[in-house]
Amino acid sequence: MKIAVLGGDGIGPEVTRESVKLLELLKREGLPLQLEEALIGGCAYDATGHPLPAATMALARNADAILFGAEGGFTYESLPRGLRPGDALLTLRKELDLFANYRPAKAFDELIGASPFKPSVIDGLDLLILRELTSDVYFGEPRGISTERGKRVGRNTMYYHEDEIARIAHVGFRAARGRRKKLCSVDKANALEAMELWRAVVDEVAPEYPDVELSHLYVDAAAMTLVRNPRQFDVIVTGNIFGDILSDEAAMLAGSIGMLPSASINAQGKGLYEPVHGCAPDIAGKNVANPLASILSTAMMFRQSFARADIADRIEGAVRSVLASGLRTADIMEPGARLVGTSQMGDAVVAAMAASRR
Ligand code: IPM
Ligand code: MG
Repeated sequence: MKIAVLGGDGIGPEVTRESVKLLELLKREGLPLQLEEALIGGCAYDATGHPLPAATMALARNADAILFGAEGGFTYESLPRGLRPGDALLTLRKELDLFANYRPAKAFDELIGASPFKPSVIDGLDLLILRELTSDVYFGEPRGISTERGKRVGRNTMYYHEDEIARIAHVGFRAARGRRKKLCSVDKANALEAMELWRAVVDEVAPEYPDVELSHLYVDAAAMTLVRNPRQFDVIVTGNIFGDILSDEAAMLAGSIGMLPSASINAQGKGLYEPVHGCAPDIAGKNVANPLASILSTAMMFRQSFARADIADRIEGAVRSVLASGLRTADIMEPGARLVGTSQMGDAVVAAMAASRR
């Protein structure tokens, strides 16, 4: 099990460090884990002049799984396109063809008070957003900023090939099959041709999964339904840009974006595991960030890349027991709970994990 550890920028390295503590424990327990670190994002740009150095790309290619932190920062936003930290992540996704992005949103009972939503709306929430990650307006051509008759125009292209739609639809149906057997495909077929094709292709794939109940929603209605009655969803399958937006919305249902893990998988089962939160430069280096999204991403790694659901269950159980014991980072703090920093939260999860073996 060779894992590329790419902490990146902002709070990325500090939350990733807590996952690494957990991986080191599993190593001591005898698991054949091999960890190798490399630079990505702004820190890689500072050190090498490129946000995705060749050595990092090679390591990512050779690893069985990638544990990613975050990338970005105020100082890099004015760099030319291609050299910005975000471009490194997009290139990694594209080069490794990590097309299936799993973003589960689950309300932990222990955190029901941390969500801005009423308990009656989110109690028992358990949904999965499956976001297509390697196409859409993110990668479509033509694109760019140019000049037309002396005025600047910005242009991006929403593009979907039918094979790209079909393969994410299959992943969606299979994911629903393993859950509550409901799949909701989200598009904008009423206004956009690329999305009209999306809906048609999802409908064409559907007969292969007669046991899964398929529905369709336009993205605006989906955004509304997500806050009105989120528990009606099981699996949502959607394109790259709508999935980006809806998954941040779903994060707030679950209490805090600091709790949300994700997995981006290719056809060979290689995965990149990353917390949904970004680099949060305002709180970086202060030991206040919530490491649980990274730790829960590590759990997803064991479930999806290494077929070790037993270890994933142990990690998730350790997180739950630490929350039940009343420890909270600032983002999920409630009256009566005990405020801890990033490393204390990580240590507590590692201790609970170690105890769960005995
Ligand atoms: C995400 C992020 C990225 C995206 C950015 C950093 C390019 O928002 O992973 O959701 O839009 O995909
Ligand atoms: Mg996003």
